[in-house]
Amino acid sequence: MKQSNHQIQSDDPDSSDLVNSLSDNSSAKTQAKIRDIRKQYLFAALDEQKVLPNGMEQFGLWLNEAIDCKLMDEPTAMILSTVDEVGQPHSRVVLLKDITMDCFVFFSNYEGHKGQQIANNKMVALVFFWPMQERQVRIEGSVEKISELLSIRYFKSRPIENQLGAWASPQSQIIRSKEFLEKQFEYYLQKYGNDVPKPPHWGGYAVKPTSIEFWQGRPNRLHDRLLYTRHGNSWNITRLAP
Ligand SMILES: Cc1cc2nc3c(=O)[nH]c(=O)nc-3n(C[C@H](O)[C@H](O)[C@H](O)COP(=O)(O)O)c2cc1C
Repeated sequence: MKQSNHQIQSDDPDSSDLVNSLSDNSSAKTQAKIRDIRKQYLFAALDEQKVLPNGMEQFGLWLNEAIDCKLMDEPTAMILSTVDEVGQPHSRVVLLKDITMDCFVFFSNYEGHKGQQIANNKMVALVFFWPMQERQVRIEGSVEKISELLSIRYFKSRPIENQLGAWASPQSQIIRSKEFLEKQFEYYLQKYGNDVPKPPHWGGYAVKPTSIEFWQGRPNRLHDRLLYTRHGNSWNITRLAP
């Protein structure tokens, strides 16, 4: 199906609803706004000669710069993608809580959707986007639960309200109402007071990367992309076209 310049070109009959909804007046304004968002990336460059040879150390460098830049909220927020049993990917934000020599650590409920997907398929991907530095980092690898001991240690370091929240919320399940959650919270507050044990269904995951790609925005869309692939304890660095 041929469309005029500003419409989507598609031969897929299912896309006609989308095309129609995009061509009405209010959507046209949104479309124009979206199209007008353009940015020249000028902040920095990424050179093979200047990066660190170890992917985790290069990540640490960029993470520190993102954290030290006080203008940016949530520099440790990352998109975690998991895959379900029919191959459907699912993405959501989680917070990076630790990096080790070879892993990225986050915490979650083990029984929610992501927990079930990870139990079936350990292959995951992470993405960080740091707009102030015009940077993206893509990480691919496999994920494992961390030890109970480390999970307990981190759980105890959280504010009491967060600890109770981990008991109160049956993550990813359909619930009747907000009040249900509030009642659950109240129930566990009465039950545990100030000494909340770690729920058995809650803890940490460690993502061990097989590859890390560093993307630095550059003028004229000629962005820098350096792909680190892990080989045992060392990393191979290649450049990808943007
Ligand atoms: C900024 C931000 C930080 C979040 N951090 C976490 C986190 O560290 N762990 C977590 O389980 N969910 C976190 N969430 C909620 C998840 O995005 C998601 O809603 C939840 O984990 C349920 O996902 P699931 O149903 O796929 O398991 C965060 C959401 C946002 C927006």
